[in-house]
Amino acid sequence: MSNFNLWLLLAGLITVFSCIVTGYKPYKNSSLLKIAPGNADFAFRFYHQLAVEATNKNIIFSPLSISTAFALLSLGAKNTTLSQLLSGLGFNQTEISEQEIHAGFRHLLHMLNHLGADIELSIGNALFTHEQFKLLKKFLADAKHFYQSDVFPTNFKNLVEAKKKINSYIEEKTHGKLVDVVKGLDPDVIMVLVNYIFLKAYWENPFNSENTQEDDFFVDEETKVTVSMMNKDSNFKSYYDKDLSCEVVQLPYKGNLSALFILPEQGKLKLVEDALRADVVSKWLHSLEIRRLAFYLPRFSLTGSYDIGEIFKKLGVTQLFTDHADLSGISQKPNLKVSKFVISVENPFNSENTQEDDFFVDEETKVTISMMNKDSNFKSYYDKDLSCEVVQLPYKGNLLALFILPEH
Ligand SMILES: *[C@@H]1O[C@H](CO)[C@@H](O)[C@H](O)[C@H]1NC(C)=O
Ligand SMILES: *[C@@H]1O[C@H](CO)[C@@H](O)[C@H](O)[C@H]1NC(C)=O
Ligand SMILES: *[C@@H]1O[C@H](CO)[C@@H](O)[C@H](O)[C@H]1NC(C)=O
Ligand SMILES: *[C@@H]1O[C@H](CO)[C@@H](O)[C@H](O)[C@H]1NC(C)=O
Repeated sequence: MSNFNLWLLLAGLITVFSCIVTGYKPYKNSSLLKIAPGNADFAFRFYHQLAVEATNKNIIFSPLSISTAFALLSLGAKNTTLSQLLSGLGFNQTEISEQEIHAGFRHLLHMLNHLGADIELSIGNALFTHEQFKLLKKFLADAKHFYQSDVFPTNFKNLVEAKKKINSYIEEKTHGKLVDVVKGLDPDVIMVLVNYIFLKAYWENPFNSENTQEDDFFVDEETKVTVSMMNKDSNFKSYYDKDLSCEVVQLPYKGNLSALFILPEQGKLKLVEDALRADVVSKWLHSLEIRRLAFYLPRFSLTGSYDIGEIFKKLGVTQLFTDHADLSGISQKPNLKVSKFVISVENPFNSENTQEDDFFVDEETKVTISMMNKDSNFKSYYDKDLSCEVVQLPYKGNLLALFILPEH
């Protein structure tokens, strides 16, 4: 059993919870609010499926990236292919129109790309298309209008060059964080859709780099690495969920972004994972209280890459990947289908520039660690003088994190 599971929901849930929880005014009555429940629903269903597929692996993904890319693709889909795609993405077409969905994504992308000076977040799409492959004008215009998509005519006869072109683009857009994402291309590929997301944020109250200690960290029962860990004894918004045996801690970033760390007790990861739903997270967010905590966070970065076609099929999106796919809104060329969808993401926990070493958890998952630690006892006491409960949160290797924004 791997006990280093990391769940990262980047930006995806974000608008969702802040709206549900705080009734954030600017988004009321907007298309942004309309796509939020669908996006949240998709994020959790996708996560549960990914957890099944990627047992014993670290999980890091950005549901928003995936929804965005597939929503873009839906611009060119028709008939059953379209309806499967939209319901797979969490949208009920009797409740939300296609136009509303695309308008919602347009607002969302715009909002996320303009978060202000404190947060560097860029998210976007690009289409690499075969030079002789003619895309319909409407598809191109909509892809640009709603999804800010760049389009690059690409010579796919030279697969090596084409691969290089795509990888350089991704590398540039993610500021060098994602390198060589596309490993191979099918010889008959005519279009590659790329979604990238880059997030760099700074803790509101930075961890003191002196408060770190070198120690053993168990990535899984057999794999041990020597790392160090940053810790902070301070007041945090947190909540202990008795039913799920996990501690939930919110750490604010500068700007309107915060990360929600979910720390299940030993052996309780599965329980927490299975229970994760929008209403559970919403309850947590409602229940956060300021408590004094000694919070330990390993410094690391994690990249993950998955072929997500299989997961989509489990979510009911099947036709898209078959010869019956109707993508006639993309091009008049018959027999278009999606052969492969790979996502790649890099986590944004580290904000300072420190020396980092790559560590491979398995062949596909590269964890770049600079400092981590091991700590194993759960300690807690009530401090009478300060009238607060002090909890020491051990990092046992199970960590789930959500990103929530904006913070109020
Ligand atoms: C809210 O949406 C409805 C229907 O789309 C519209 O008629 C109304 O003017 C909107 N209200 C505000 C305050 O934007
Ligand atoms: C739409 O899909 C159904 C079922 O797959 C099929 O019978 C029908 O012919 C399709 N319609 C068009 C216009 O392709
Ligand atoms: C879609 O929404 C309608 C109306 O709200 C509802 O009756 C139907 O059951 C929903 N479909 C799905 C698949 O949830
Ligand atoms: C972010 O927070 C600042 C200050 O708290 C506020 O002025 C700004 O409007 C917020 N931006 C968003 C997008 O919520």
